Amino acid sequence: MNTTIRTQVGILGAGPAGLLLAHLLQKAGIDSVVIDSRSRADIEGTVRAGIVESPAAAVLAKSGVSDRIYTDGMKHDGVEFHFDGGRHRIDFNALIGKSVYLYPQHEVLRDLIAARIRDGVPPLFEHKADAVLDAESSCPRIVGTDAAGQTFDITADIVVGADGSGSIARIPVSGSRGGYFREYPFGWYGILVEAPPSAPELIYSRGDDGFVLISTRDKKVQRMYFQCDPSMDVNSVSDDQIWDRLQAGVAGIELKRGPIFKKDVLRFRSFVAGELRKGRVFLIGDAAHTVPPTGAKGMNLAFSDVLWINQALRSFFASGSERLLDAYPHNALDRIWRAQNYSYWMTSMLHVAPDASEFDKKRSLGELYSVTTSRYGQQYLAEGYVGWEYGADDWM
Ligand code: PHB
Repeated sequence: MNTTIRTQVGILGAGPAGLLLAHLLQKAGIDSVVIDSRSRADIEGTVRAGIVESPAAAVLAKSGVSDRIYTDGMKHDGVEFHFDGGRHRIDFNALIGKSVYLYPQHEVLRDLIAARIRDGVPPLFEHKADAVLDAESSCPRIVGTDAAGQTFDITADIVVGADGSGSIARIPVSGSRGGYFREYPFGWYGILVEAPPSAPELIYSRGDDGFVLISTRDKKVQRMYFQCDPSMDVNSVSDDQIWDRLQAGVAGIELKRGPIFKKDVLRFRSFVAGELRKGRVFLIGDAAHTVPPTGAKGMNLAFSDVLWINQALRSFFASGSERLLDAYPHNALDRIWRAQNYSYWMTSMLHVAPDASEFDKKRSLGELYSVTTSRYGQQYLAEGYVGWEYGADDWM
């Protein structure tokens, strides 16, 4: 049997971008259907990264998703940079009067899913999209298969691909156009450890052996990374070697150890799709772009796309005008490329490329000193880290 569904906006992907969009559309009286191939338990149970920028936190709270971020999230007023044997604090609050929130993405997802359920329109989990069809007609379709093996066919006025870096929606939109791509010659070896925090704020450290990041998930679970070869086998180092490598990166701070319960290797990529729109199909979030994790921009950048497309869809359904739909790629790309630059800049400044010469290493230290000893340099860093205000500000 085939299930057919008619809706105004078909959204692929129950990640932060797809769910936030569905929430904002509903507030404007626009119907949508969100599908995702994963189960709810899978989406909510995967521990994910956690820096929420100040404007992103405001969107979640003000749009009524949840203000748990302000009560349960950990407010961070700064970060530390360690390099060349010294420690340099970037005081966000003193520099620009804002903070970030350590509130892991799986908590954001729980809040967003709870909001969809509260509003009576739960996402369709375990619905795997096989293709997006008829992009250039006035009723594009999403076809796929559900967990029971039944096919479904969702016909919409607009389809939005928020289905991550392996996006199906990207095929009709920019499949043949490729995109803009950069791969880095290093990645991160990450661990999740059961232990209390080792430091009150995140530590970004650049040593001769490369980069180390000391981050946190909550009071009992910590996240730490060290720079590694992107093809490194996760099981090729012992726990003792992991601790030695992390500890060497943050001399002067005693890392609190505990059982390591997850290890992974993250590859670094910068990517922007060649096109963000084809006819009535649009790309947002990781389907449209990927950033390396150093600047913690992923979800925060996705929210910018959401606000632009939300504004365009509201105008389209209210007036029939495609003016803001036409403007979506241009509007979204402005922040996308600024965030690409910021993430690339943080990444290249803090890592040591495998082929770095002595000149390259010393120049990098020069850059770090330039930024951390200048008020303007610190302000530039803080402004980008805490998050630029969103462009589409009339989102409610
Ligand atoms: C993380 O906690 O996983 C994390 C934090 C900050 C970053 C990147 C990742 O810049």
